[in-house]
Amino acid sequence: SDGCNLAPMFERKPPKNVFVLTGAGVSAESGLGTFRDRGGMWARFDPMRLATPEAFAADPDTVIDFYNLRRRGVVAATPNPAHVALARAEAALGERGGRLFLCTQNVDDLHERAGSRAVVHMHGELLKGRCTACGGTFACPGDLHVADACPRCGAVGTSRPDVVWFGEMPHHLDAIQAALATADLFVAIGTSGAVYPAAGYVRHARAQGIPTCELNAEPSDNADAFDEARYGPASETVPAYFAALVS
Ligand code: NAD
Ligand code: APR
Repeated sequence: SDGCNLAPMFERKPPKNVFVLTGAGVSAESGLGTFRDRGGMWARFDPMRLATPEAFAADPDTVIDFYNLRRRGVVAATPNPAHVALARAEAALGERGGRLFLCTQNVDDLHERAGSRAVVHMHGELLKGRCTACGGTFACPGDLHVADACPRCGAVGTSRPDVVWFGEMPHHLDAIQAALATADLFVAIGTSGAVYPAAGYVRHARAQGIPTCELNAEPSDNADAFDEARYGPASETVPAYFAALVS
C-alpha cells in the first residue's frame, strides 16, 4: 500500500444496537444463587415441586414461602460491577443514538438498582405479585401471603409471585424478537443455555449474521454457537468487554 492508513475504512463500525441476554450468573457475585451450577438451586430443590403452576395449586404456602425466601435474598443483595457496567453501556450507547436491549431471565431487580433504565424480565419479577383472579400485578417488596387480598380487585387467596414457572409462557416475547431482528451484536452473560426460548436466541442472531459473544464462568451448553467468548467472573469480564465496546 502507499502507506496511507486504510484501517479506519476496514474497521467494523462500532455496534449501535446491542442485544444483551443475562442469566443467573450475572447475579452470582451479588450472592444470589444460580440454578444449574454445582450446588445450584435445582440441585437442592426440585423445580417441579416449587416452580410450576401445578406445584402452586397443590401447595401454595410452600411455593410462596420458597419465593419469599428468595425475595429476601434479593432485597439484601447489591448489584455487582457487571450490573453497573451494563447500566453504563446502556447510557453510552444511548448517547450515540444506539440502544442496549437488556433481556434478563433473572427475577431479581439488580439491573434496575445498578441504573439500567430499560430491563425486559422474560421470566417475571420477584418484587412483583400477580392476582390470579384479575390478572393484575402489584409491587411486592416484602413477603407475600396466600391470605393477602389483591390490592387491585380485593380477591383473597389469589396472589402469586409474578414469576414465570416451568410450563408457562415467558413474557415480552414479541418485543424480544423485534429487538433481536434489529440487533447488530448479541451478547449472552451468565446463562447456561439450558432453557428455551432464551437458549435459542444466539442461533437467531447467528442466522442474521451478526456477531455473538458469550461472557460466562465456563462454556455454556451453547458455547459452540458463539463467535467469541470470554470465560471468568462476570464482575471482571463484563466491565472489560463493555468498556472496550463503548470506548
Ligand atoms: P423449559 O421446558 O424451557 O425448561 C425446563 C428446564 O427446566 C430444563 O431445561 C431443565 O434445565 C430445567 N429442569 C426441569 N426439571 C429439572 C430438574 N429436576 N432439575 C434441574 N433442572 C430441571 O421450561 P418451561 O417449562 O418452558 O418454562 C417456561 C419458562 O419459565 C422457561 O424459560 C423457564 O426458564 C422459566 N422458569 C422460570 C422460573 C423462575 O423461578 N423465574 C422457574 C422455572 C422456570
Ligand atoms: N460469572 C459469570 N457466569 C457465571 C458466574 C459468574 N460469577 N457464576 C455462574 N455463572 C454461569 C454458570 O457457568 C452457568 O452457565 O452462569 C450460568 C448459570 O446458569 P443457570 O444456573 O442455568 O441459570 P440460567 O441460565 O439463568 O437459568 C435459566 O432456568 O430455572 C430457570 O427461570 C430459571 O431463569 C432461569 C432459567
